[in-house]
Amino acid sequence: MQLLPAEEAILAGESGETRQQMMEILVALGKVFSAERLVPIKSAQVSGASYKTIGEAGLEWLSLLDARVSVPTVLNPVGMDRVLWREMGISPGFAKKQEAVISAYARLGVKLECTCTPYYIYQTRFGDHLAWSESSAVAYANSVIGARTNREGGPSALAAAIIGKTPEYGLHRVAERKPQVVVTVEGAADWDETALYGAVGYHAGKSIGDRIPLLRGLRPKRDQLKALGAAMAASGAVALFHVEGITPEARIFGYDLSGLEAITVEPGEIMSLMQEGPVDAVALGCPHCSSEELRKIAGLLEGSKVTVPLYVFAARKVIEATPDAVAAIERSGGRVYADTCMVVSPALEKYGVIMVNSGKAFAYVPNMCGASVRIGTTEACIEAAAGRPSV
Ligand code: F3S
Repeated sequence: MQLLPAEEAILAGESGETRQQMMEILVALGKVFSAERLVPIKSAQVSGASYKTIGEAGLEWLSLLDARVSVPTVLNPVGMDRVLWREMGISPGFAKKQEAVISAYARLGVKLECTCTPYYIYQTRFGDHLAWSESSAVAYANSVIGARTNREGGPSALAAAIIGKTPEYGLHRVAERKPQVVVTVEGAADWDETALYGAVGYHAGKSIGDRIPLLRGLRPKRDQLKALGAAMAASGAVALFHVEGITPEARIFGYDLSGLEAITVEPGEIMSLMQEGPVDAVALGCPHCSSEELRKIAGLLEGSKVTVPLYVFAARKVIEATPDAVAAIERSGGRVYADTCMVVSPALEKYGVIMVNSGKAFAYVPNMCGASVRIGTTEACIEAAAGRPSV
């Protein structure tokens, strides 16, 4: 890999040990993936933020770093709402460790938004090079915005954030962003329920793996694209997807699909994922809710009182920008939390069965919370939370 003189100097340790270590990570990655150079990035998003997932070893590593990020860098959700952690049932011991992780990132200059939807807060543009690590944010940035990022690990995203560059390989190259498999979803042209897109993503991701799919037969809106990509990233390892006639690169490039494997998804396969049954808690906001999703939840709850614990997760700035909907959800007995989510917080580990409207949460909750999981439409989730039979 060809380095500029300034990059060579960092690698030689001339700007400190931490920057040297970070450059070593980037150079090692670049060599493995045959990158020819480093490319400047516009922003970074760093996972490995919850004490639940990184533990003592991660905290120790972060505490040893001594440098500042060179580009706007956002943190992934952490293990608790930083204000309402007691109400969530988080122990003081966990909270202390979590705050130590957050302080370590703050010392590096990382913004403490703690969200997997940084695109609701910071402008990201078509063609921007990024180093993002949370899988749903990566899928959204690449696919819906047309920005370019590989699916970074926490350390490589942080290394890129500190250096301000990332090795130019994989999805940073236009030639490597073409569809590799075609997925046709039958009977879905008029779907308007986000959970159905999450269920399609969960189902299709298993067959797609880490390939780039082009999906046909769907007309998803922005929040539905978010749900679709998050689920394909979770059940498979999709970092970029195209939707015919919808996503920017599919519209611009009009790809030649001849010779690609074709997969068909039947509506019955999606509906069969949606099982009925009793639940102990309902969790919405994976990925974090948009303002529109908060308003929808508030509308569905109107006139109801929650009888099963209802958790709703969103970025703090989105919560602050949507005060009426948040107040309405809380008047009905639901709780809206920032900074965290049902998967990376230990708060939901006490429940036996959790109901979600997200294909990604459907994939992750069993392993990460040790709970059984049900997926249903947002309407069915609210019916379950309000103790009414789902329809
Ligand atoms: Fe975001 Fe947590 Fe889901 S990080 S994508 S809400 S698992």
